[in-house]
Amino acid sequence: MRILSGIQPSGALHIGNYFGMMKPAIALQAEGEALYFIADYHALTSLRDPGALRENSRRVALDFLACGLDPDRAALFLQSDVPQVTELAWILGTVTPMGLLERCHSYKDKLARGAAASAGLFTYPVLMAADILIYDSDIVPVGRDQKQHLEVTRDIAIKMNETFGDLFKLPEPRIHAETEVVPGTDAQKMSKSYRNTIEIFGAEKETRKRVMSIVTDSTPIDAPKDAASSAIFQLYSLVASTEEKEVMAAEFRRGGTGYGDFKKRLFESLWRYFAPMRERRAAILAQPNYIDGVLARGAERANAIADKVMARVRDAVGV
Ligand code: TYM
Repeated sequence: MRILSGIQPSGALHIGNYFGMMKPAIALQAEGEALYFIADYHALTSLRDPGALRENSRRVALDFLACGLDPDRAALFLQSDVPQVTELAWILGTVTPMGLLERCHSYKDKLARGAAASAGLFTYPVLMAADILIYDSDIVPVGRDQKQHLEVTRDIAIKMNETFGDLFKLPEPRIHAETEVVPGTDAQKMSKSYRNTIEIFGAEKETRKRVMSIVTDSTPIDAPKDAASSAIFQLYSLVASTEEKEVMAAEFRRGGTGYGDFKKRLFESLWRYFAPMRERRAAILAQPNYIDGVLARGAERANAIADKVMARVRDAVGV
């Protein structure tokens, strides 16, 4: 079984990335051949600062390793170290109906938030399909916001298979029900572009500030509160033990505890949860060439697979 996923290096990683994708991806590395990449070509659709892109890409590698990616099991690499994906994206684009891309929510959302309508942004899902299909991937762990892109990938694979014979496997998304949408500080989906994130490796003071800024309703301290609809409780559920969760849920129901107290407890649990990963991160940073070595080995493994698949594709389409 081959497992594949990607993450854009468009900014610091947040706990939505962690619980939505990184944690499940790390758990899956023991179950098959895992390939995880840093989607720097995709990040070019929003980031046009070469220094920042290079630095963010390395930081994503560092953070992913700190969170538990084991480079002896999973290959970690830069998308751009396998440039064949752009060739495959071109070929896939020649069979992709415009209407399929026009229906993509993520493209429409980005335009609605003021992004310029570049061809790259529009064909983003085609490159993503190439990322997945070039490794004959079986399983793709992602958050719910990527579900439609996986459907597009499958539609493109079916179209290629109908046109050129049995070329591609149909990949399956793996979306964890409990963490499919991690809420941000404004209770919408946590996202860099909504400015509502809590970073995985933010400084302590800043992280506390972010947690304390979570929006709440105006229910008085004494009144019972609804835990299920509260972003505080939803985030706490990700990092607290079952008993701790039950205690907080009971306090929500009973009333008498203010949101400020719940937020403090959330911060403490969050900070504790990521403590071992902060330690591992510091240890990795102390080894100067470690990350470059991991990325080079990962790229080698990924290229070996991509070369084989591309030979098959070129042969099938006649180039
Ligand atoms: P990206 O970089 O936006 O996010 C990386 C992963 O984190 C998940 N995620 C979340 N999950 C739950 N709750 C949230 N609030 C949350 N925020 C982010 C995302 O669902 C994603 O799984 N297009 C992709 C990158 C990509 C890719 C691929 C993924 C490029 N090619 C091929 C899989 C396969 C993206 O922008 O993810």
